[in-house]
Amino acid sequence: MESVTEPVKRAESGGGGTPGLAFDFGENWDHYSRTVLDEPRLTAAIDSLAGLIGPDRLAGASFCDVGSGSGLFTIAAGKLGVARALGFDVNPTGVEVAHRNLERFAPELAGRIAFRQGSALDAGFVGTLGRFDVVYAWGSLHHSGSMWPAIETVAPLVAPGGVFVLALYNRHWTSPIWTLIKILYNLSPGILRKLWDWGLGSLMLLATWAITRSNPLRKERGMEFWVDVTDWLGGYPYEYASVEEVRARLGALGFDLLEVRPPRVPTGCNEFILRRRAA
Ligand SMILES: C[S@@+](CC[C@H](N)C(=O)[O-])C[C@H]1O[C@@H](n2cnc3c(N)ncnc32)[C@H](O)[C@@H]1O
Repeated sequence: MESVTEPVKRAESGGGGTPGLAFDFGENWDHYSRTVLDEPRLTAAIDSLAGLIGPDRLAGASFCDVGSGSGLFTIAAGKLGVARALGFDVNPTGVEVAHRNLERFAPELAGRIAFRQGSALDAGFVGTLGRFDVVYAWGSLHHSGSMWPAIETVAPLVAPGGVFVLALYNRHWTSPIWTLIKILYNLSPGILRKLWDWGLGSLMLLATWAITRSNPLRKERGMEFWVDVTDWLGGYPYEYASVEEVRARLGALGFDLLEVRPPRVPTGCNEFILRRRAA
């Protein structure tokens, strides 16, 4: 497996969006990994990955994690027995954090797991990565700044007959309002962002409870509510898609939609399981 030996360089988040406003996901992943991530959360991530993709599809497979963030799900795939896993992210801090998490939680997997810095929009980079049985792009490509070109660029990573797992923000009438909130958040100085986190986060907590009637603090995928609030408010560039848009666009790229899991709240992420046609 490849490993990153050269120092990671800071890169642009790439693509569209308003220049200069890109959110630093790496900083949020660093905070999450230092203050929240522990063995039970890793176990929750492993369970969620197995529940979404199925342990049979993962055992012995090759796995690519596109926009790997903290590296949590690349490591989870390793724990579920993939033969090799590659996580890549445009954010250099995220890549550093992922290396740290690998060393901390799964040093025994270091020979089978690699992390690299690179962009899903960089066809030259993506073209060097090869093919994978499972490509997992959870919550990343809608933050690339050019969601559909990013999807088109990484789709060839999926081997014929392989599985493409995508999580993308659902298109909703409030989606343009979220774009505005994220722009304002990223324009705000640090202290004001804390107020946004606290104020809008509390509203989101209440709204999530009102819609789902379940405890919003009990987080899935090993995440944590207040870390997610910062990600939701700050996560820009931001795009979204309806289920039908994904079915049509991915169909044209040679994928069949096998399953869609809707979000708990209407503006959350749809989870798509797609299979690349053999021919
Ligand atoms: C919300 S996080 C999701 C992280 C991870 N997939 C997970 O499920 O926890 C989005 C990630 O996508 C990364 N990202 C954004 N644009 C990208 C691009 N063009 N190429 C690769 N990664 C990108 C961000 O740096 C960030 O780490």
